[in-house]
Amino acid sequence: MSAHLSIVTHPLVQHKLTIMRDKTTSTAKFRQLLREISMLLAYEVTRDLALTETTIETPLCPMQAPRLEGRKLALVSILRAGNGLLDGILELVPAARVGFVGLYRDEETLQPVQYYNKLPSELGERLVIVVDPMLATGNSSAAAVDLVKQAGGRRIIFLCLLAAPEGVARMKEAHPDVPVVTAALDERLNDKGYIVPGLGDAGDRLYGTR
Ligand code: URA
Repeated sequence: MSAHLSIVTHPLVQHKLTIMRDKTTSTAKFRQLLREISMLLAYEVTRDLALTETTIETPLCPMQAPRLEGRKLALVSILRAGNGLLDGILELVPAARVGFVGLYRDEETLQPVQYYNKLPSELGERLVIVVDPMLATGNSSAAAVDLVKQAGGRRIIFLCLLAAPEGVARMKEAHPDVPVVTAALDERLNDKGYIVPGLGDAGDRLYGTR
């Protein structure tokens, strides 16, 4: 993962994302699609994980077989919408360690305010995937990555569903060493900090609140 921004153009991801954007899509369907997409995105972000060889015995003979090297992955969800991405990734990588960062966005300043921070140990020895469906202003995302770095994280990827150019630029300025992986790069932010065309408020659509 070397480019600062990678867009996962897989047709299944793009198709599911279109249904998620549609305002007539129900909460249940939205949640199911986010879970499915997150597995496909996880497949992409874990592509470069290092492998090592281990000896096992199949029913027929011993063999040297590949397994993941090193410490388990760490997933860090930015509450609350991050949990929608987290759930699907955990299905694919059930042994991952999980952290949570609670940040809400002050609707006037659009600046993040922290209310929760609980991260796994030995972050410096793990690939850390920070997840939030929407990379909008980038302020919360950059603040969450700050916390991960303060806790020792070195190899970090930021995974989202949709990104705005403003958010990508903010992340590049704050964390040029952290690749951003997304399913789509949208046009812009509106004056309320929502991604356009976007999909609305990801947390509300995921949990049926408003
Ligand atoms: N957060 C959301 O849930 N949606 C946006 O469009 C921007 C931030």
